[in-house]
Amino acid sequence: MNQQPVIHIHEDDTHWQEAVVSFIFRIITETLETRKYCSISLSGGSTPRQIYEKLAREGAQRGIPWSSIRLFWGDERAVPHTNTDSNFRMVREALLDHIDIPQENVFPFPHPDSHVSSAESYENTLRKIFQEQITFDLSLLGMGDDGHTASIFPHTDLVYEQDAWVKSIYLKDKGVYRISVTAPVINRSGHIAFLVRGASKSKALREVLEGDYNPEEYPAQLIRKSPDVHYFLYSGAGELLR
Ligand code: 6PG
Repeated sequence: MNQQPVIHIHEDDTHWQEAVVSFIFRIITETLETRKYCSISLSGGSTPRQIYEKLAREGAQRGIPWSSIRLFWGDERAVPHTNTDSNFRMVREALLDHIDIPQENVFPFPHPDSHVSSAESYENTLRKIFQEQITFDLSLLGMGDDGHTASIFPHTDLVYEQDAWVKSIYLKDKGVYRISVTAPVINRSGHIAFLVRGASKSKALREVLEGDYNPEEYPAQLIRKSPDVHYFLYSGAGELLR
């Protein structure tokens, strides 16, 4: 790791939400000082929903220039965008339906139910957009109880993937396909923020941050090369950290 991640531990969701949204706003402001767009990769799952809802409520009053923001997804479930499991649907309901962002600034995985072609198409899109060294200016990530992040799950080929930017993966234990950006792409983000809630994640988080390097077991350990990695923790997620 280039440098130690910055750990933010909050007592409750109100303080946690404010810290995360303030961080996002700071990255947007700093990025737009030198770049035309601020590219943000969004996490799926349940934890970030409240952040997207807060951004929808407060974005305008905080002066977020949505026309200068480009939104991407770090991963997606291999289901249509209308499916209740869809990360795109979650973001559409929590954020997109409530803000004035140009459609051409929003980059969901195309037809994720056709996961192989969706992965290929998304990779082409990302390679076309991100010619230079960094990819996303900010990547928002979650972490599962098992230490996965995005859809890089333990004991899957995605842990070792160094060439492809986007891959679909079959999760045997869940009987589903997922599509995910790979660790090298995430590590090229300018800034990374893990959003982790709940004591159920405290053991995995301790291993990820303080345990031996073992990405096969704890894939979130792969995400450590970006110069600026933050963990925003609350509701017991950080209770086992020394
Ligand atoms: C997804 C996410 C996944 C998520 C973790 C944590 O598509 O579900 O990409 O990596 O961030 O599973 O999920 P929760 O925030 O719901 O605990």
